[in-house]
This record gives sequence, structure tokens and C-alpha cells, in this order.
Amino acid sequence: MDASSALSRIGLAGLAVMGQNLALNIADKGFPISVYNRTTSKVDETVDRAHNEGRLPLTGQYNPKEFVLSIRRPRSIIILVKAGNPVDQTIAALSSFMEPGDTIIDGGNEWYENTERRIHEVSEKGLLYLGMGVSGGEEGARNGPSLMPGGSYQAYTNIQEILEKVAAQVKDDGPCVTYIGEGGSGNFVKMVHNGIEYGDMQLISEAYDVLKNVGGLSNQELSEIFAEWNRGELESFLIEITADIFRVKDEYGDGDLVDKILDKTGMKGTGKWTVQQAAELSVAAPTIAASLDCRYLSGLKEERENAAEVLREAGLKEEKEVKPGGIDKKRLIDDVRQALYASKICSYAQGMNLLRAKSLEKGWSLNLGELARIWKGGCIIRAVFLDRIKKAYQRNPNLASLIVDPDFAREMVQRQAAWRRVVGLAISAGISTPGMCASLAYFDTYRRARLPANLVQAQRDLFGAHTYERIDRSGSFHTEWTKLARKSDAVVGALN
Ligand SMILES: *[C@@H]1O[C@H](CO)[C@@H](O)[C@H](O)[C@H]1NC(C)=O
Repeated sequence: MDASSALSRIGLAGLAVMGQNLALNIADKGFPISVYNRTTSKVDETVDRAHNEGRLPLTGQYNPKEFVLSIRRPRSIIILVKAGNPVDQTIAALSSFMEPGDTIIDGGNEWYENTERRIHEVSEKGLLYLGMGVSGGEEGARNGPSLMPGGSYQAYTNIQEILEKVAAQVKDDGPCVTYIGEGGSGNFVKMVHNGIEYGDMQLISEAYDVLKNVGGLSNQELSEIFAEWNRGELESFLIEITADIFRVKDEYGDGDLVDKILDKTGMKGTGKWTVQQAAELSVAAPTIAASLDCRYLSGLKEERENAAEVLREAGLKEEKEVKPGGIDKKRLIDDVRQALYASKICSYAQGMNLLRAKSLEKGWSLNLGELARIWKGGCIIRAVFLDRIKKAYQRNPNLASLIVDPDFAREMVQRQAAWRRVVGLAISAGISTPGMCASLAYFDTYRRARLPANLVQAQRDLFGAHTYERIDRSGSFHTEWTKLARKSDAVVGALN
């Protein structure tokens, strides 16, 4: 028997939804693949699907040793299991049968430091390692995800041809995959992608809230507005699916399904990590942080219901009662579109600056323009707008912030009046728009040459002798503020 010709090009272990779909995608692109899962029914399921979806070249394996040995050397094995311990267990189960030069690729949403630990651990056996962010959900995994592989460059080149065929393809812009960088950079980039996704979803939900509760738009109208927005500058996967959501009727009763959904948002942790990392790196990410806070507050459903009751009894008027009369619907819709777009630019500016700060700390040399490019297709934040970000960083790789890219700067200035109107209207109507407010405050703070931080410095120097710098001469200064203030009091007193 000619064993080598029967061997698979690649392997995949962990056949939950994402694993199955990615394995079928790889097989569909013509790369023979071996799949494995401890639970044998998962293997059978995947083999059946491969058969039914066009007799794809996929082989089911039922024990770890045979699985590993069924793959051509140097072996590349993708694992798609729950982040954390299950990854370590799977590596332990497989690596004893693997040989120097073989690679493990973790495709889960793993904390980047775990990847860096594993890179080190497996290197003792001569194994290579990639931590690869995979975005696009079930559909993306099957038909073309955005892939963010980081770690061993050699390991990347071993499977580059596969990844480039399996990834989403964007017209004139190639496959949505690139080598991200060393260490845990692939996981880190995926984490920030998810943080940006939190921000996008929050901003869209605020646009919905304002249009519904200030503008009085029906779900039917909302669906039409979002569909229309999806033909312009906001064109993106999230805007598109939002338009669809408003169209779905409730199968259990009258009305639309969206109105029957409990207003509590779930989360899995990557948004929290993004905000934690922003704080660690002293990078302001207020829009992403606001979206995380909003998920936490949404979870307090009972407390919120109680607060609504307590404050109503205390005399707080309902939103609708304070709604300013005579809303110009058409103008409101146009304003909200502009506010959403401008807020989004600020949110992406935060995410990109977080990536740059980490890249500098770790020496990853992240190419921000390339990251924007591979997010143009396949992933959840895919959007036409990312092409503009790509170009901004191509024009100037050292761009301090997207806000000062000449094109984005012009767009924000054009939209700022509408942006301020929407936020102002929402505030006076008592509709919280934490994401839009955070983005606007970020913009207004970043663009001001002088901030009231001088007063904070004076306070710090007064109570803690922390010293301050001056605008007109160099060096650090300390002042006996209290003594001087009391003395001048005496002087003023004497003058009176
Ligand atoms: C196999 O499937 C089970 C249940 O779906 C899952 O918990 C487990 O992590 C999978 N992976 C492996 C490598 O066995």
C-alpha cells in the first residue's frame, strides 16, 4: 500500500459547530483532511456531512494516534475546542504522537498569553505552534472566515496555501488572511476584533433606540432604514443582519420577534479582555468600555425594573412624555446615520491604537492596514468602511489616530453637527447612548489642544507634592499652594 498518497494534507480535532464547518470548508477546497473528536458521534456526523455536501475528501478518525498518523508530514493539526484547559488536554492527547516539525494550530478564542505559554511548551518537543483567530461564526467557517494566524512563521508557510483558499475572498483585495506576527499576536488581534464588534453592536443598538423611542419608528420602518443604510457608507454585515432582524414575525404570537426578546446581553469574555488590555496599556478605549458596561447593566434586568419603578414614584417622567414635540423624522434618520458613522470611526481608532500599543510592547510589528484588509470579508465586523481604514494606514503607517487621517478628519467634521444633535436629543429625552457619547467625548477630548488637566495637576501637586510642568518653561515645579492661597486671602482681605 502506498501510505503517503492516502495521507491527509491536514487534520482538525474538535468537531463542535465551528470545527465541523471549518473542516468541511478545507475539504471543499480540495485539501484532504482527517478529523477527530473524542465523542465518536461527532466524527460520524462530520463524515456524513462531508458525504452529503459533495463527497468531500474528509476522513473520520476515532483515536488520537491513528488521527495523527493519518496526516502527511510535516503535520498541521488545527484544534477547535473550548479555550483554556480543553486546549491543553487536546494538545497533550495529540502531541505525544506528533514529531519535530509538526504544528498545532489553535483556532479558538484563546487568551494570547496561553498561546505564548504553549508555544514555549511544545517547542521542547520540536513542535511548532500557531494561535489563529477565526471570525465569521458558523457560516463564515463553512464558506470563508477571516483568519488571524500568529506564532511560528514556518508553521504559517506550511499551510499558507490552504488558509488562502479557505479564507473569505474579497474582490480586488485577496483572501482574508495574513501572517499576523509572532507569539500570541493572532489571538490578540482576534480579541481586539471582538472588542470592536462589541462597540459596533452597541452603537447600532443606540441608533435603534433613538429612532424607535425618539423618532417613533416602527420595526417595518427600521428595517427599511437599515437596508437603505446598508447601501451607503455604513454597508456592513452587522447593518445588513439588523435590517433582517426587524423583518421577522413572532412565531408564538402577534407582533415582531425582536420585541419579545429579553433585554439581557450575553458575553464570552473577549470584550472584557479588550478593555482590561486597554487599561493595562494606558490606551483610552471608552466606546468599547461603554459597550461592555452596557452589557453588564443589561444583565441587571430586575434591578433596572425596580429602579424604573422607584424613579417613577419619585417623579421621573417617562421618556415619551419628555419627547420634544415635532420631531422631523427624515432629518432625525439622517442625523442618526451620521452620528453612527462618526461614532464608529472613533471606536475603530481606539481599537487600532490598542493594537499598535501592544505591538510596540511585544515587538510584533503589526501591520494595521493589513489587519483592516483581512477584516473586509468573512468576519463579523466586515464592512466597506474597513477599506478606508486600510487606505489610511497605507497612506501613513505611523498615523497617530484615524481621527487625524485627512479623509476621516473631513468626514468627522462634516458629521459633527448631526452627531451633536443626536446625542443632545437623546440626552434630553433620557435615552442613554453611552457608546455615541463616549465616542463624541473621545473626539472632543482628543482634538482639544488644551484640556483642564492643568487643574488636576495643580490638585495633585497640592495634596501630594507630585510636581507639575509649565507651559512656558522646562523643568518640574512644586508650589506651596495652601500657604500661598491663604496668604493671598490675607492680602485680599487687607485690601478690602
Ligand atoms: C469533542 O466533542 C465534545 C462534545 O461535543 C467536546 O466537548 C470535545 O471538546 C471535543 N473535542 C475533542 C478533541 O475531543
